Amino acid sequence: MTNHKIIVSLADRSYPVIVGSGVSDQLQDLLPKTAKRVAIVTQENIPLKLDLEIENTTITIGNGEQHKNLQTIQLISEKFAKFGLTRSDVVIGVGGGMVTDVAGFAAASWHRGTAVIHLPTTLVGMVDAAIGGKTGVNLEQGKNLVGAFWQPTAVICDVDSLKTLPERETRCGLGEVAKYHFLTGDDLLALEMTQRIARCVQIKAEIVSADEREQGGRAVLNYGHTLAHALERSSSFALAHGEAVAIGMIFAAHLAHSMKRIDDHRLAYHYKVIRDIYRLGVEVPKTIKRTDLISFMRLDKKAINGLTFVLDGNNSIEVVSGVDEKYIDQAFDAMQVL
Ligand SMILES: NC(=O)c1ccc[n+]([C@@H]2O[C@H](COP(=O)([O-])OP(=O)(O)OC[C@H]3O[C@@H](n4cnc5c(N)ncnc54)[C@H](O)[C@@H]3O)[C@@H](O)[C@H]2O)c1
Repeated sequence: MTNHKIIVSLADRSYPVIVGSGVSDQLQDLLPKTAKRVAIVTQENIPLKLDLEIENTTITIGNGEQHKNLQTIQLISEKFAKFGLTRSDVVIGVGGGMVTDVAGFAAASWHRGTAVIHLPTTLVGMVDAAIGGKTGVNLEQGKNLVGAFWQPTAVICDVDSLKTLPERETRCGLGEVAKYHFLTGDDLLALEMTQRIARCVQIKAEIVSADEREQGGRAVLNYGHTLAHALERSSSFALAHGEAVAIGMIFAAHLAHSMKRIDDHRLAYHYKVIRDIYRLGVEVPKTIKRTDLISFMRLDKKAINGLTFVLDGNNSIEVVSGVDEKYIDQAFDAMQVL
């Protein structure tokens, strides 16, 4: 099977993303030449074990979004200190998006910036989280509120590690793949898995290369995410990120429809793609109240000028600020959110 190499093009911070079967054996060659030590950040149940010819330590962090917090960053940093990790060494994140977000942030803050390489082991991680340099952790008040832009020096997507991924996690990944479907119109499900991941990486790489720090175009990658983050928090993370993104895109479509940005046909197309083609859930669980969702959405990082969403419309998908709450209510009414 062919391996793919996609470059995230960012001048002197450009880096390769390798996608394929068995490609984790390329790690040794991708380590920075200055590195004398490697700190691997991972979780207990991650199947990918690394065999490195360099002094290394493994730091195992908790599983689940409730461990994506500043306490985990402190724990990792103290282990870096005990291990003697220096700024010329390297951190390696091996796991899903939770691990790579946390490992990336720990690396960004360790000695004000230490190299990091990601080996994502979930579909969410491969198509999205490990690429683009957004790192961070959650607070009680909201998702990813503390973080840094810190580009990895390489990303290795070894598709073999997906063999053990539970079906629910694969479906979560499809939530992000469906997002790329709306951003590009590409029929990504028609591609075989390795090609599909490579194409998603390429889409994300192009968007990140054009707007690394989300001052414009990169914000479209947050399609469905304003409600998704609120859903994750309101459900105490019972809803996984990818599941929440799928529902969030349906909500964004209803909101765009209420604001007359899209017509009935385009709204129906969202249901067709997300529910019928990608077979993802489209309903807000009945236990979640709209008042809670609105409070969490106000804390979204994009909400600088009032409630802010990424919305579909005649001018394609774009950021829309200062959205009147009456449209949000109409969208929630249409989705029968209490
Ligand atoms: N930085 C970004 O640009 C970005 C983009 C999208 C999502 N994210 C973040 O990513 C996180 C979600 O990532 P996720 O969906 O990968 O969840 P996750 O990292 O929590 O992983 C889901 C579960 O799968 C397990 N797992 C991982 N790989 C496995 C494998 N190969 N086999 C068996 N089990 C495995 C994990 O231990 C965990 O229990 C969220 O915190 C989200 O905010 C970040």
